[in-house]
Amino acid sequence: MNRAIAGSGAVVPFAVLVSGNGTNLQALLDAERSGRLGRGQVALVISDRRGAYALERARLAGKKALLIEPDQNLPKEARRRDLSDRIQAAVREAQAEFIVLAGFLSILQGSILDTYRERIINIHPSLLPKFGGPGMYGERVHQAVLAAGETVSGCTVHIVDQGTDTGPILLQRTVPVLPKDTTESLAERIHHEEHIAIVDGVLELISRLGNMDNRRAFS
Ligand code: GRF
Repeated sequence: MNRAIAGSGAVVPFAVLVSGNGTNLQALLDAERSGRLGRGQVALVISDRRGAYALERARLAGKKALLIEPDQNLPKEARRRDLSDRIQAAVREAQAEFIVLAGFLSILQGSILDTYRERIINIHPSLLPKFGGPGMYGERVHQAVLAAGETVSGCTVHIVDQGTDTGPILLQRTVPVLPKDTTESLAERIHHEEHIAIVDGVLELISRLGNMDNRRAFS
């Protein structure tokens, strides 16, 4: 990782971690192709699930795509660490400056969280801190929002820390919750906003990393 990315107009390569369909990954790939991703460049896509369509999206875009699966023979904690360590090695090899979790269902643990501190971002389909935390993923989030009678929901891009969905918030986008909403209709409305938010989140992180480097350079 090149810690001094500021100033230079050079590209800023990053890795995207996925587990499923990968529409957020697609938003990043489309933004890169159309020049809306600034200096950002998807260097590597990693899936922890075999058959994730996101891997196909990566290949179709000509990106390096890896399957790194959890070792089911290991107990939970060791399995998370082992997966995280193997992901970290691949990210390092690709010389990625930061990591985007775009629908990534495994929990990262251990060294990767220190090495890439403030350099891992996640997108979550609610207005955190509401409706986040362990077990809050997929349609469960939207079910909970509807059950709570919320009138507004949305999505959050945040920095990843040791907790689940707890790190500092980079940005949020809101949508109305309509009286006739189902989990599907609400999920779809939020998904649309996610595709904007994830691109803005990457741009925001690149800008912050640049500012951090500037402060370092002048202190
Ligand atoms: C998104 O709703 C994201 O917020 C959550 O997982 C979903 C991934 O969707 N973390 P996709 O695979 O990018 O379509």
